[in-house]
Amino acid sequence: MEIVDTVAQMIDWRDIWQKTRNEIGVVPTMGYLHAGHLSLVERARVENEIVVATIFVNPLQFGPKEDFSRYPRNFAHDAALLEKTGVDLIFAPTLAEMYPTGFDTAIEIGGVTEGLEGAVRPGHFRGVATVVAKLFNLVGAKRAYFGQKDAQQAAVIQKMVRDLNFPTQIVVLPTMREPDGLALSSRNVYLSQDERTAAAVLYRALSAARQLWENQPTQHIGPALRQAMQAVLTDEPLANADYVSAADPASLREYQADVPVGQGVLLSLAVRFSHTRLIDNLLLY
Ligand code: PAF
Repeated sequence: MEIVDTVAQMIDWRDIWQKTRNEIGVVPTMGYLHAGHLSLVERARVENEIVVATIFVNPLQFGPKEDFSRYPRNFAHDAALLEKTGVDLIFAPTLAEMYPTGFDTAIEIGGVTEGLEGAVRPGHFRGVATVVAKLFNLVGAKRAYFGQKDAQQAAVIQKMVRDLNFPTQIVVLPTMREPDGLALSSRNVYLSQDERTAAAVLYRALSAARQLWENQPTQHIGPALRQAMQAVLTDEPLANADYVSAADPASLREYQADVPVGQGVLLSLAVRFSHTRLIDNLLLY
């Protein structure tokens, strides 16, 4: 496994693989890897001749009061996991490589960025789209792998690829969960023991809304789905909800009382436990 940290080295490898017509799959990450990331790498391994994983904690996607500086990092551990999972190359650029002095360009995606995370974290998706566009250009991948846990991020990247004609196919894979339903996330490490126990409430809230949807899938139950999630969250004193959402999976617009949810629904929520903010979702069709 190769490890490179400069843009020039990454481009050299990309050019070699493109000359030999090898298909490249990329798994973009911010490191501190868990089984969810590794499931993306495993799928990429099956579908591509070359697998690149990127590790870069991208400051552009963190707000001024968010956790950029304390975001967990452990490069040696990540590299060992990636090597074992069959990655060919890790691209782990420095900040100065990705954003050299004078860097002043951003990608702004409309529509799907407006609600949910986009409403609560201004500029977040501009940062995500900008770094992902750079990584796509640098790696030259035919396929890129993302987790369903960041459902809105996946929708934003799919829209970017469509609107800007990137030749990259986006593959979105299911969320991996702990036995109590908590979605795997690098941020789970911030939780105290009590908060970790309480954090299972996200999946309980989503499951309560799923049950309602399964019983009345063609009804006008958008508001009721949100109420069902909110009711479960209210019972957990350590949980503070930023939002609960029952939205159209394509537009990510909230289902209001005048629209039946029969075309499918993305249930999602963001919940804070003290300084830790977790998100999760279920996609129902
Ligand atoms: O999902 C993540 O880890 C990040 O948002 C990504 C896609 C690697 C961009 O920094």
